[in-house]
Amino acid sequence: MTEARITVNGKETPISPAAPHTTVLDFLRERGLTGTKEGCAEGECGACSVLVARPGVNKPTDWVAVNACLVPAAALDGQEVITSEGLATVGEPGTPPALHPVQEEMAVRGGSQCGYCTPGFVCSMAAEYYRPNRCAHADPADGADSAESADAEHGPNGFDLHALSGNLCRCTGYRPIRDAAFAVGEPTEDDPLAQRREQSPPAPVATEYAQDDSAFLRKDTLAETLRLLRERPEAVVVAGSTDWGVEVNIRGRRADCVVAIDRLPELRELRVESDHIEIGAALTLTEIERRLDGDVPLLAELFPQFASRLIRNGATLGGNLGTGSPIGDSPPVLLALDAALVLADADGEREVPLADYFTGYRQSVRRPGELIRAVRIPLPLSPVTAFHKIAKRRFDDISSVAVAFALDIEDGIVRKARIGLGGVAATPIRALATEAALEGRPWSAETVEAAARVLRGEGTPMDDHRASSLYRSAMLGQSLRKLHAQTTEAVSS
Ligand SMILES: Cc1cc2nc3c(=O)[nH]c(=O)nc-3n(C[C@H](O)[C@H](O)[C@H](O)COP(=O)(O)OP(=O)(O)OC[C@H]3O[C@@H](n4cnc5c(N)ncnc54)[C@H](O)[C@@H]3O)c2cc1C
Ligand code: FES
Ligand code: FES
Repeated sequence: MTEARITVNGKETPISPAAPHTTVLDFLRERGLTGTKEGCAEGECGACSVLVARPGVNKPTDWVAVNACLVPAAALDGQEVITSEGLATVGEPGTPPALHPVQEEMAVRGGSQCGYCTPGFVCSMAAEYYRPNRCAHADPADGADSAESADAEHGPNGFDLHALSGNLCRCTGYRPIRDAAFAVGEPTEDDPLAQRREQSPPAPVATEYAQDDSAFLRKDTLAETLRLLRERPEAVVVAGSTDWGVEVNIRGRRADCVVAIDRLPELRELRVESDHIEIGAALTLTEIERRLDGDVPLLAELFPQFASRLIRNGATLGGNLGTGSPIGDSPPVLLALDAALVLADADGEREVPLADYFTGYRQSVRRPGELIRAVRIPLPLSPVTAFHKIAKRRFDDISSVAVAFALDIEDGIVRKARIGLGGVAATPIRALATEAALEGRPWSAETVEAAARVLRGEGTPMDDHRASSLYRSAMLGQSLRKLHAQTTEAVSS
């Protein structure tokens, strides 16, 4: 067994004596890197944001910002982390460090008052600063002024403000922070973090990090992992840890054995075949979003509405389905896409339609020791799709109700309808009665009105602190009317 260690700001740092459940946030702070702050310890504020070197989408390595409060330090064994302290360049002895360009812009544009949120903001901002093709986005290929390619959410420098959607500031206000984000230029050629993107990312390493009665384990292959899970079916599996981290921090949960699956190559493939797309269960939502690049429009509509960029940089589809939550956002979308899950255990694989997967509140047909290896989406895709997430905030909020539609409409007739619902029953469900009320009928205001009344009656919505059952039912009906209005506008424009 080799010693577990993380390269922090270029320096190899042993994880010991941290406990296996110790978060990256506590690990860093205990080593004096107190720039990384705790605001909420549940992924909501971004004060703990740090940069991690990950396999890149357009370059060998991407600098990805994650919530250090949710990730166990042992999960980053062998990996590279940059904190806000590591962004600045240390100069000659006796001289202050030179600020990183994002720190400089935050300082000169008044983006920091009390400063508590600032290290988190600069890490999220730095990840976007180093995103390959960011400036190309803004580069006016056909002579347009770069300011013209900007919109409310993108700067003239291509900076996507969603990069900061998981960072909260209580005192400065967001305008100066946005000014700083929209002012950063391109990394220079001798910028060491820009250069690091051209090298291979750190390879995953097998980890056996144990203390007293608890252990954090990572195997090299899926086969080894499945054998381990057969021996220890009580083990907690973690991928991005965006759910598990909240359980550990807020509910005080501890596990004797945690098994990491997020770097398993067999769970990180994305393949487009002639009749289906297969998405590895341990790819992060950001990776899927960037690799599909809009090829599955319904998923493209889901991603910006799913938590924040910081969470999407860790969260996986396997984790979203693995929790079995009735308010997860991916199940309605995947139900509408007619997706199936590839489940794997030590004896082999089986494919289960997602519509048959959930059996009760946070329960599924998945057996102990079985993992979700991949999600399969059949092709061709239905052309008319929409995802309506009804929540109290536009971004970074949990659904009160979520509705996903995928319709085939030919010659004005609905040939096929798939509708996935979240937040209206103990499990995510298909709106089967509404689908039947649409199929074979004209896509007209009359059909939609009748089907919207059916949709209102689907599921068994509850009253809770997010919404009343009446509101949830009303939103279901509205959702179908909204889709009809959107498609009619698209046809007439
Ligand atoms: C601030 C915040 C905002 C959030 N916003 C949203 C939101 O808008 N919409 C939403 O749907 N969710 C949201 N979530 C919940 C969470 O981010 C998602 O459920 C995410 O997809 C979980 O993925 P993960 O890889 O981090 O799961 P983990 O925390 O690693 O694992 C979660 C569970 O799934 C199991 N699991 C993980 N991978 C697999 C697999 N391959 N096979 C079998 N079981 C597996 C684990 O054993 C564990 O029980 C939010 C969470 C936070 C903290
Ligand atoms: S401390 Fe708030 S997101 Fe981590
Ligand atoms: S500067 Fe005070 S919380 Fe943001």
